[in-house]
Amino acid sequence: MDYFIYGLIAYLLGSIPSALLVGKIGYNIDVREKGSGNLGATNTFRVLGIKAGLIVSFADILKGTLATSLPIWFASDINPLIVGVFAVLGHTYPLFAKFKGGKAVATSGGIILAVNPLLFAIMVLTFFIVLYVSKFVSLSSMVTGVVAIIVTIIQQDVPLIILTGILTAFVVYRHRSNIKRIMNKTEPKISWM
Ligand code: G3P
Repeated sequence: MDYFIYGLIAYLLGSIPSALLVGKIGYNIDVREKGSGNLGATNTFRVLGIKAGLIVSFADILKGTLATSLPIWFASDINPLIVGVFAVLGHTYPLFAKFKGGKAVATSGGIILAVNPLLFAIMVLTFFIVLYVSKFVSLSSMVTGVVAIIVTIIQQDVPLIILTGILTAFVVYRHRSNIKRIMNKTEPKISWM
């Protein structure tokens, strides 16, 4: 029963469509109708600029961190990683945005921030190094997931190996259209780095 309640809270938390809210409230723009159409931080940067992008990045990471932290704070018999995954599912298939959400990157990062800040820092560093070299946010997101798996293997942290394995596979799955565009050479590159 506790798992159901924590999972539900996490899913609802993850379902808060921060990119949609920031776009509609702050700019009267629906980010789903512009850029890649994705309801995530990257498309918010692309469509609405740096301030909105940073707010959405922070909010989407926070959803994962908060959902994962709730059982750590209040229910020691509940596995926080499982609860965190429900926040990612909410973010990706949000109840409050017709089940069409983001690509799971920032909220997955939020889970890692809650349980292993060092790994999170390594992931942020990896993301920006790959972004600097490739200029592709999507590629940077996927490579960061793979590096996270490698680091957890080095750390011999079995629950996190499983978690990063599942989340990275899911992130790659959510980036199917980006992978096709990278192959076709039509994936947009960032211009500000
Ligand atoms: O986190 C999502 C990012 O990796 C790709 O987003 O909008 O370029 O498809 P987008």
